[in-house]
Amino acid sequence: MGTLQVGMIGAGAIANSHCDGINKHPQAKVVAVADTSKERVTALAVKFNIAKVYAKWEELVADRDIDAVSIALPNALHAPVALAALKAGKHVILDKPFAMNQKEATAVIAAAKKAHKTFMLGMNQRFSREAQTLKVVASRGDLGEIYHAKAYWLRRTGSPKFGTWFTRKDLSGGGCLLDIGVHMLDLCLHLMGNFKPVAVSGATYTKFGHRGIGEGGWGMSDRGAPVFDVDDFATALIKFQNGATVELNSSWVLHMDQPNKNNVELFGADGGASVNPLRVFRFGKNKGEYEVVEPQNVKIAYPHMNRFVNWVDVILSNDKPMCTPDESLAVQKILDAVYLSSKSGKEVRIK
Ligand SMILES: NC(=O)c1ccc[n+]([C@@H]2O[C@H](COP(=O)([O-])OP(=O)(O)OC[C@H]3O[C@@H](n4cnc5c(N)ncnc54)[C@H](O)[C@@H]3O)[C@@H](O)[C@H]2O)c1
Repeated sequence: MGTLQVGMIGAGAIANSHCDGINKHPQAKVVAVADTSKERVTALAVKFNIAKVYAKWEELVADRDIDAVSIALPNALHAPVALAALKAGKHVILDKPFAMNQKEATAVIAAAKKAHKTFMLGMNQRFSREAQTLKVVASRGDLGEIYHAKAYWLRRTGSPKFGTWFTRKDLSGGGCLLDIGVHMLDLCLHLMGNFKPVAVSGATYTKFGHRGIGEGGWGMSDRGAPVFDVDDFATALIKFQNGATVELNSSWVLHMDQPNKNNVELFGADGGASVNPLRVFRFGKNKGEYEVVEPQNVKIAYPHMNRFVNWVDVILSNDKPMCTPDESLAVQKILDAVYLSSKSGKEVRIK
């Protein structure tokens, strides 16, 4: 195959990283872009020298010269656009969260299998040097059995702009949990090597946004009425088939000491670890000693640290995917269960 012809669907804030990341691969190039905003689609086309510009994503998906598409649209469009692209025979990379719910996610996975095309979620947190190093350390057994973990992304005043799609449930599916909680949940399960959740107890809250408090800077989309009907705090306890547990917390707005903190902390029988900062905690060699160390000389699997390069390599059969669709489905099931548990006040079992 010559150069992979990639279409960018969505020309908002994160599309810049998509185009930049894709063009870093020597055998891929963004050659088309689609967005309903003339201003944003033109700006992205100029910035990345993209020849074809479409107002409608359907036109890009129908373009026979496009081999693969990268999707960075409001969450409600993730599954419909991914399904259409797969049916049109394109490979797909989709930004997080996977979909509005597990039913949609399952349909996308089935479509990818049927089309024999590469489908991946681009979970960028997994690609950092710290995360990749900790993955090696945990996988080779340095921490022993990992029986508990804490995953959190907490922002103090970091809600996306009010009235953009982010703060509207019909377009986003949910708030901070789907926006940033998903990142740390996915990273946590990846580091634990455990994608077998069995039960979730969760609670979600809307305490600030509907009062017009806590707006941050993110969100390039058009703003409608200042609707805010999503969560600005979410918490959950997730239980796994092997007895392990994960405590998940996320916020867009929260009274706390720092403006932003995110981390995954792992607790194992032989050691603990955190990804941010990268540290391992363990007993020292001599009695009474305790060590807090940064792992050294660890060879990481994806030194390019680029989710798009990995996706293109998988399409070209040059590498294995960092993130599999089934792992992303497990994450989606947990997210669904957090909202369901919050609504019902009960623990939700996951099959
Ligand atoms: N991986 C990350 O770290 C990360 C960071 C930010 C956002 N995201 C995800 O990326 C996606 C996009 O987020 P964003 O911050 O770029 O949003 P954004 O609001 O800046 O951009 C979305 C773009 O989609 C366009 N759009 C909306 N409806 C359309 C339609 N029907 N057809 C064509 N274009 C349409 C809008 O005009 C806008 O330009 C979201 O799913 C978000 O969760 C991921």
